[in-house]
Amino acid sequence: MNTVNRRFSVAPMMDWTTYECRYFLRLISKRALLYTEMVTTGALIYGDRARFLQYDQSEHPLALQLGGSNAADLATCAKMAEAAGYDEVNLNVGCPSDRVQNNMIGACLMGHPQLVADCVKQMQDAVQIPVTVKHRIGINGRDSYAELCDFIGTVSEAGCNSFTVHARIAILEGLSPKENRDIPPLRYDIAAQLTTDFPDLEFILNGGIKTLEECSEHLKTFAGVMLGREAYHNPWLLSEVDHQLFGDPQRDITRTSILEQLRPYLVKHIAQGGKAPHVTRHILGIAQGFQGARRFRQLLSADIYKTDDPLRVYDQAIAVLEGR
Ligand SMILES: Cc1cc2nc3c(=O)[nH]c(=O)nc-3n(C[C@H](O)[C@H](O)[C@H](O)COP(=O)(O)O)c2cc1C
Repeated sequence: MNTVNRRFSVAPMMDWTTYECRYFLRLISKRALLYTEMVTTGALIYGDRARFLQYDQSEHPLALQLGGSNAADLATCAKMAEAAGYDEVNLNVGCPSDRVQNNMIGACLMGHPQLVADCVKQMQDAVQIPVTVKHRIGINGRDSYAELCDFIGTVSEAGCNSFTVHARIAILEGLSPKENRDIPPLRYDIAAQLTTDFPDLEFILNGGIKTLEECSEHLKTFAGVMLGREAYHNPWLLSEVDHQLFGDPQRDITRTSILEQLRPYLVKHIAQGGKAPHVTRHILGIAQGFQGARRFRQLLSADIYKTDDPLRVYDQAIAVLEGR
């Protein structure tokens, strides 16, 4: 049964939504659905599984995103996700990188709706947690609305009822993954049309959303919104999500109280042999708009690499935010 609330989620982002990042974001919002970075089936089946599945219990609700196109492997990995306690497993049909295309992972799968359906079916048969799909509105050469409807129809018949739509096409040759997040125009109108044509399915809108006002507006049409880059670069945006978008009572948190709460995690991380910047690189954006933001970023992105007392540098950064 699908009990995950996807009203607001933070997008899966390679190298960004690591468990350190998610731990930090969860301190700011209790309700946002968080996604892991994409993990390939090969990495989970043949690699350091424990590391790829690692998370802190506080991170729930939490979805694991998988990359792959072998149905049996995806089903095996979905089972691993469920056994590890993830709330949802998501299949990546949106990533346009050349590296993943060669392995039939990501956006190129939009050209193979039946294969995606077979994958979703086997995954769904293997687990009780929901299986969702994150996709584009098309790929070059296959970007008509009829083809998009064919994709959604075929995959939903296999048992997927929640689709996260990155509302632009992916151009599989000639653009880098980064360019593919900016150059193809955003078409919210096409994503919105899906909500009319498939009223029984859940559609989550992704791509270019920057403010909670925009979120509220999109939530009139869509079941949920997913933010990627803005949530990462301006994590304090999440501080109003629970109240404004989920109707929770306002929590009494400040940027510095969040950093104080993160401190024990950093202490433990260092005690276990981890490097402080692996945690602090994700929090640089929290000072956005504050006096001292530059100094804060400098301390946590430069000085902290050079020091043998990273906690002292961390405390200095908090003091800068407090204006001390
Ligand atoms: C650094 C980075 C890494 C990303 N990695 C993934 C990924 O692993 N899986 C995925 O489905 N999308 C990935 N994306 C795409 C985002 O999930 C999202 O769809 C895209 O950034 C558009 O949303 P935004 O405009 O809110 O950032 C990545 C984006 C960025 C910026």
